[in-house]
Parts: sequence; structure tokens; C-alpha cells
Amino acid sequence: MTPTKELQRPSIKTSLPGPKSLEIINADNRYVTPSYPRPDYKLVADHAQGVWITDPDDNVFLDCNAGVAVCSTGHCHPAIVAAVQKQVSELIHLCGTDFYYRQMPELGQKLNEIVPIDGDCKTHFANSGAEAIETALKLAMYHTRRQKFISFFGSFHGRTLGALSLTSSKKAQRLGFMRQALDVVHVPYPNTFRHFANDMPTDAETISRDVINWIENRLFKTTTPPEEVAGIVLEVVQGEGGYVPAPKPFVKELRRICDENGIMLIIDEVQSGMGRTGKMFALDHHEGVKADIVCMAKGLGSGMPIGACTARADIMDWHKGAHASTFGGNPVCLEAALTTIDLLQNGLVDNSREVGSYLEAGLNKLKDKFDCIGDVRGLGMMLGVEFVTDKQSLKPAAELRDKIEYACYERGLIILGCGSSTIRWSPPLILTRENVDVALEIFEAAIKATI
Ligand SMILES: Cc1ncc(COP(=O)(O)O)c(C=O)c1O
Repeated sequence: MTPTKELQRPSIKTSLPGPKSLEIINADNRYVTPSYPRPDYKLVADHAQGVWITDPDDNVFLDCNAGVAVCSTGHCHPAIVAAVQKQVSELIHLCGTDFYYRQMPELGQKLNEIVPIDGDCKTHFANSGAEAIETALKLAMYHTRRQKFISFFGSFHGRTLGALSLTSSKKAQRLGFMRQALDVVHVPYPNTFRHFANDMPTDAETISRDVINWIENRLFKTTTPPEEVAGIVLEVVQGEGGYVPAPKPFVKELRRICDENGIMLIIDEVQSGMGRTGKMFALDHHEGVKADIVCMAKGLGSGMPIGACTARADIMDWHKGAHASTFGGNPVCLEAALTTIDLLQNGLVDNSREVGSYLEAGLNKLKDKFDCIGDVRGLGMMLGVEFVTDKQSLKPAAELRDKIEYACYERGLIILGCGSSTIRWSPPLILTRENVDVALEIFEAAIKATI
């Protein structure tokens, strides 16, 4: 008999959080801002490798969140560590806005090759997703000489004041800040699982038609003349809003609206980009549709802070001094990004697609088994599981979702909620089928123990 291969599993040795973790949590409570939207469970990381996170008490967790979709190549991938260490010993900073170094045009050229934009592109480098979005907003305003934007309910584009004007995934993000910095109108997101009129499932054609109709026949004919709109900002797979992919007919129609009215189509790939959906960008799933401006961050640097806003070269027509950033495009982060793209192109995008569909199939089996799973959706390794009270009413079950998330943590699996009652799966793109088997077994046990 062939011996069965022992699967690597999480190892939980203490009560959670353990005593050493608790010390850090207590110090954090005292000295760190209370505004971070941390989940109910408290994970403290000491070190991490691949898909495994070890806490200070020596508990080992299987990571299916990747630091919120950031550690695309896994924790401390040897090639990333080597690239960063080499660069740190050669040049840490010079300020690319005033001086030159080779990594900036190198990554600019690489992005020019891979982003879903027609023709030649140029890139502005930043430090985060929100900064990449700020760049896109300023650029669209500058280029079109217009001021209004259209964004979607449930969207998340960051928390700086310009990006916050677009963001609308949770009340807490805006509460207390009152008047918004930019003139933004929100429209329903084309969610096939929850039509905006009745919160019930619909089909891709219906929801696409209804949202497009809302934009063209309500907004454009009343409060928001299209000739005043600088840009429409879209997450092709909505992230914080619940891991909801936009239907193909909708994205195509949105491109048409932008073309007909001289509006910039700004695609936010901060969470969905860099191989997460099983293609390099989520927009790559929409054949024939290209963006004017693409924003990236998160997975781009494998954990090193970098944001990028890439636009058609003829759109990036602003004058010297119009926009820049001291740290944006730091050479160490650029090296991490160049190595990340190399790893993505040499296997990890394929792995995201292949192992992602294996994970999706496993989640769909659980959907058939449990009345509390209303929907499994997504692309590649960007998968959402929406919890409901029951399959008839499909009422969102937020509390149940939070409890299941906690029960996973207790069993050594790290996943995170998004939307009102969804659990997102955004593992490192190196995840294996064996990891999936372990993760699904824990997820199922957590659901059984909670319902
Ligand atoms: C789609 C999207 N855009 C923008 C942002 C903002 O990125 P950052 O937190 O790096 O500012 C996020 C962060 O979650 C995001 O998911």
C-alpha cells in the first residue's frame, strides 16, 4: 500500500490569542490608532513563509488572505527577498521625481506591455492604492478639464479625501467626514446575486441593462450631464464590497458610454490586478474592452509598498510639476515589483487560475451542502462566499459570517470578510491543491461548528 502523503496543516498550541500575542495586542490598544477596521479575531504575526504565518506563541496558520491580497507571491518568496536585499545594499532612495534610476523606466516599460490599455502608456508611481487612485482622479480632471466622477455603491478606492469621495462600501468609512472633496455620483453596482431593486438574484443582461439605463437615462439627463463627467471609476471585480464580478455586457456598455461622451474609463485593479483573478488583470477577462487609466497597488510589490497609475500616453499630458511623490517609485519597491511580475508571468497567474478553479469547485460543493451559503462567485483566486440566513429568503447573514470567520481562525485558517456577509478568499497565488484541501476541510468544520 502506498503511504498517504502527510498534508501540512496549521498547528494551534495555545489558546488564541496566546500570551505573547496578547502583550502585543495590549500595547497596540494603548499606542496605535483605534480606526483600523480589524476583524473580531486577533492575529499577531511574528514571521511568515509561503502560505504559513507563525505567531509569537508558535501557532502556525494557513493564510488564505495574503495580507489582504497583497502577498501575491507568498510570504517572503526567496526571489523577492533576494531582489530586495540586493537593492537595499545598492540604492535605497534618491527621489525619482527629481532624479533618475533604471528601475523606473524598466517597470514603466513592463507595465506598458501588460496593462489592458490600447497603445503606448506612461506610469506615475505612488506608494499605495489610494495614491494611485488620487493620481487617476487628478489626471482625468486635468486631461478632460471636467470635474465630476461616477462611482459605484459598494466600491472601495481608498481613504484619502479624493479617493474617499468615490468609496462607498461601508458607512464607517465616511461617518464623521461629512462633505466630500470631489463631486461624485454613485450608481448601483451590477451585482447579479442582488439586483439593486429587490436584493434578489438576476441575470447578467438584466442587471447590465438596468445599471446602464440608470446612468444614461437618469444621471445624464438630470443631475450629471455627461459633458461634465471626467471619469467613471470601476472595480471589474468589486473587492471590499463583496468580491462581486461585473458582468461582461455591462463592462462593454460602460466602455461605449465613455467613448461616446469623452469620459475616462478608470479601472481600479488595486485588489483584482496582478494575477489575482487568473489573468494578469480582471479587465483581461473582458475581451475587446480596454481602459484609459489603470490603477494598481497591493499585489504589485509582493508586500513592498508601491502603487502605480498607468494611462494612455496621450492622456498623461500634464505639465511638469502637476503631480509627483517623494517616495513613490522607490527603487527597492520597484525591484520587488519587477520580480513579482516575472514570477507572475512564469507560473503564478496560471496557478491562480488552475488552483483557483479547484478552490471554487470545492466551495461550490459546500454551497450545495449548506443552506447558509447563498452564493459562491469570483475569478481565479479572488473568490467570495456569501452567507445568508437561508436559501429561500437569501437575507444576508452578517453575524453568522463573522462567527465562521472566527471559527476558522480558532482552527488555524486565516480568511477575512468583505461586503455585508461575504467571506473573501484571496490567498497567496502560490497556494497548492493540497493547501486547498486543508483549507476547505477547516472551512467546513468551522461552518458545522457555527450553524
Ligand atoms: C480596489 C481598491 N482600490 C483602492 C484601495 C486602496 O488601497 P490602499 O489601502 O493601498 O490605499 C483598495 C484597498 O483595499 C482596494 O481594494
